[in-house]
Amino acid sequence: MGSGDDIVISVEGLRKSYGGFEAVRGVDFEVKRGHVLALLGPNGAGKTTTVEILEGYRKRDAGSVCVLGRDPSHRDKELRSRVGIVLQECAVDQYLTVTEAITQRAGLYRTPRPVGEVVSLVGLGAKGDARIKTLSGGQQRRLDLGLALVGDPELIFLDEPTTGFDPSARRESWDLVRGLCAEGRTVVLTTHYMDEAQALADQVTVIAAGKVVASGTPDTLGGRDQGETTVRFLLPDGVGVGDLPLPAGLHPEVRCGAVEVCLPDATDLLHDLTGWALARGQALEGLTVKRPSLEDVYLALTGGDP
Ligand SMILES: Nc1ncnc2c1ncn2[C@@H]1O[C@H](COP(=O)(O)OP(=O)(O)OP(=O)(O)O)[C@@H](O)[C@H]1O
Ligand SMILES: [Mg+2]
Repeated sequence: MGSGDDIVISVEGLRKSYGGFEAVRGVDFEVKRGHVLALLGPNGAGKTTTVEILEGYRKRDAGSVCVLGRDPSHRDKELRSRVGIVLQECAVDQYLTVTEAITQRAGLYRTPRPVGEVVSLVGLGAKGDARIKTLSGGQQRRLDLGLALVGDPELIFLDEPTTGFDPSARRESWDLVRGLCAEGRTVVLTTHYMDEAQALADQVTVIAAGKVVASGTPDTLGGRDQGETTVRFLLPDGVGVGDLPLPAGLHPEVRCGAVEVCLPDATDLLHDLTGWALARGQALEGLTVKRPSLEDVYLALTGGDP
């Protein structure tokens, strides 16, 4: 494991049990400054437990953990002032207004961001004076994000931060996270949305039953970049499968008039197919070329558990 300045988090052999149940069973990873780590895994995999240990909210049983050069279990003020947190379940006084809640949180930090700036940053400009209990689920989650950012943290933990967000709010929060990283801040994110991990993560770690089952970039995780390509198109009118210029030994599937072929590299096939279609003056309707998605790889790694 590296120990340079660019490593913001390093975790080695992390273990945690609740009573007789071992929820985290030897987890290792590290996160570089300015990167987004997405922790993925089925419900109960141990993501929140891991994140809460890194945040200093939970004691570990074994292993070493270093966050911004410190051991979070000491819960020192200096470390807490450099970290922002969105918990999976947030508990703030429901009778405060949005502005009051963020102002109260800002008071805990030496150099907070201006409250009004944070309220607009998370898209709650119109709700500054609304009591928290009147906010919608997605708006409450936005407030959680605001509470995490008001301390101007260099490391941010986001435990399922966009659950309940509408699609445009999710995209806005992705831009927000990208902006934070562009400023050199580091983000640890848990999510069940594969598109979110694909869009944001520099690095993905998949945890299942308390263990890391795969790590990599979103594009290479689980050998995704080596996976087969699927080429699909509608069989042109008057053409039989036997007429297609397919390499010998390739066994296309034909379903509802669509031909589907799986192969390691589709470059030659696409050249032959499109050349053949153009020479006949016909379009290959519905042509798609697909590689395994992050979700395909994730489901294979976690045994199909969503
Ligand atoms: N306070 C607790 N007491 C006892 N068991 C717990 C406690 N917190 C978590 N667990 C158990 O530890 C395991 C891991 O839980 P954890 O919350 O870390 O999972 P997770 O990966 O965050 O899941 P999710 O995707 O549902 O949020 C689960 O089996 C859970 O029931
Ligand atoms: Mg969780």
